[in-house]
Amino acid sequence: MASIVLKRTKQKMPVVGFGLWKVTKSTCADTVYAAIKAGYRLFDGAGDYGNEKEAGAGVRRALSEGIVKREELFITSKLWNTFHAKEHVNKIAKMQLELWGLEYFDLFLIHFPIALQYVDPSHRYPPEWWGDDGKTVTLERVPMQETWTCMEELVDQGIAKNIGISNCSGSIICDIFRYARIEPQVLQVEIHPYLTQEPLLNFAKTLGIAVTAYSSFGPQSYLELGMNKGVTALFDHDVITSAASKTGKTTAQVLLRWAIQRGMAVIPKSNSPERLAQNLQIEDFELSEADMKAISALNINLRLNDPAEIDPRMAIFA
Ligand SMILES: NC(=O)c1ccc[n+]([C@@H]2O[C@H](COP(=O)([O-])OP(=O)(O)OC[C@H]3O[C@@H](n4cnc5c(N)ncnc54)[C@H](OP(=O)(O)O)[C@@H]3O)[C@@H](O)[C@H]2O)c1
Repeated sequence: MASIVLKRTKQKMPVVGFGLWKVTKSTCADTVYAAIKAGYRLFDGAGDYGNEKEAGAGVRRALSEGIVKREELFITSKLWNTFHAKEHVNKIAKMQLELWGLEYFDLFLIHFPIALQYVDPSHRYPPEWWGDDGKTVTLERVPMQETWTCMEELVDQGIAKNIGISNCSGSIICDIFRYARIEPQVLQVEIHPYLTQEPLLNFAKTLGIAVTAYSSFGPQSYLELGMNKGVTALFDHDVITSAASKTGKTTAQVLLRWAIQRGMAVIPKSNSPERLAQNLQIEDFELSEADMKAISALNINLRLNDPAEIDPRMAIFA
């Protein structure tokens, strides 16, 4: 499979990985195991997804059966907002590794540039956004520099091979580059034809940061949460269906191909064995320049994952 070479370590990050958000906990181990059998080598997890233990069980089953070797896999996880303070980063990263049953992460990302009040994992895990009342968001006064320095120490200690950021825009990326001893290697952000993010992509390219697009299918992932904002599904959009019929591929494959043809990695999620296999088959065709342009022209700056909608004090994309 094609990969993106990360600048600092020269490690190869597969261009297609498997996203673990909303992968059903009870079937997660089997799904991950099946995904490895289908050919996936990158898994995109996070403390917040609440299924790291189950994902790890699937990985370890494949390892113990000799289907893959650990070094052939690329395991990503993320630091949740409640663990940004210096006394928590290392402890929670180690706890997450234990949940996976692994010795290192290939990539560890700061999930959001937002620090929230600490919640002890014995009290609630994953902590999510709110306090015990399920309503109140409590911000914590932790600057990004403190968290990034701790992320660098994860690399020093061999807990993470690469470190990066997610949901960050230009200003905070500029800030991190002012003090980084180890630069962010990967930026994971929402990108799909309704939110094409050209300026951010160009900035990442200038800095040598690899970009991973999340929610490549746009509103689809947010439909089940009632957060799809009422727009036409990308799967039903004329421009996408037309590109699909021209290439003999599915609309999902067209959306993923559009992203990798722009130089990004993708991490589609599916609970279905057929769809997860289908999402891997995107390297055997090409979209024409005209179709690439027509798809990019669908941009309406529609952001589906915006913490400001949870609490206006978290307007990181304002
Ligand atoms: N860093 C962040 O803040 C952040 C935020 C969001 C997501 N992510 C990461 O990015 C990954 C992907 O994003 P996402 O989960 O939001 O959404 P996504 O992969 O864009 O879309 C998933 C949705 O599309 C459906 N689907 C998958 N393959 C399909 C196919 N071939 N044909 C038709 N429908 C298909 C899935 O349903 P079925 O499961 O029923 O197939 C599900 O409803 C996440 O799992 C997570 O790892 C990161």
